[in-house]
Amino acid sequence: MSSPPISFDNAEDYELFMSGWSRLAGEVFLDWIAPAPGLHWLDVGCGNGAFTELIFARCAPGAVEGIDPSAAQVDYARLRPGLGAARFAIGDAMAMPVASGSVDLAVMALVLFFVPEPARGVAEMCRVVRPGGRVGAYAWDFPGGGFPIAVLQTEMREMGLVPVLPPSVAASTQDAMQALWRDAGLQAVETRAISIERRFDDFEAWWSMAMAGPAIAARLALWPEGRRDELKQRVKTRLAPDGPGPIVTHARANAVQGRVPG
Ligand SMILES: C[S@@+](CC[C@H](N)C(=O)[O-])C[C@H]1O[C@@H](n2cnc3c(N)ncnc32)[C@H](O)[C@@H]1O
Repeated sequence: MSSPPISFDNAEDYELFMSGWSRLAGEVFLDWIAPAPGLHWLDVGCGNGAFTELIFARCAPGAVEGIDPSAAQVDYARLRPGLGAARFAIGDAMAMPVASGSVDLAVMALVLFFVPEPARGVAEMCRVVRPGGRVGAYAWDFPGGGFPIAVLQTEMREMGLVPVLPPSVAASTQDAMQALWRDAGLQAVETRAISIERRFDDFEAWWSMAMAGPAIAARLALWPEGRRDELKQRVKTRLAPDGPGPIVTHARANAVQGRVPG
């Protein structure tokens, strides 16, 4: 029996699972694209607003729109204290409810690998950005083992449980991003790797983060308790070989940016 696709119907869990990681990678991404103040931004797949918040905190935008297909995520984003000035809408990256040429900059933060047809998503970003504006993205390097809980997924596989992955993980290598951006007609295309590290107070804090991932705890709940304990012990041995105390873990994303001709 195949597992259902990953869904984002619990924004509080998403906050515990991914927002901290998104912010760490997002800071590096925003420093890299170094946007001018006053721009009109589109945050594609804005989720619960973790990255949108960074745009306001670091980029002095003129306007920010966010779209995401998950009502739960968008509802959470609307209630974030720092996002009162943003406009959010439900929408899919492949057919966005956004007028052509209406924004200066469209970005996807940790979204490209969720778009079933990434080229259609990139084409849509090109459509809505004005000539001379920019299109950018950063995405976990799934093929290169950069996903923050890759170690858990490796141990799950070793124990016979195939992790559910987003539909388009192959799009998150630098080569694939470079090709997608070039094939969409974007100019001055650049890519880079983003390596981040994150400290947790102890292994239990890391485990709580990992178990908040979409469907992870629910899938493991189908296992007998002994097997779950074995999985946890295997991950703990890899991440906290020195026993109790803080642990430092790593993740790696790839980023891309390009300019709309004109
Ligand atoms: C890993 S989250 C990233 C959220 C946010 N950008 C961040 O950095 O925290 C991926 C988001 O992509 C959204 N998503 C999934 N499929 C999508 C699609 N086809 N178009 C746009 N967004 C999509 C999900 O609903 C989810 O909120």
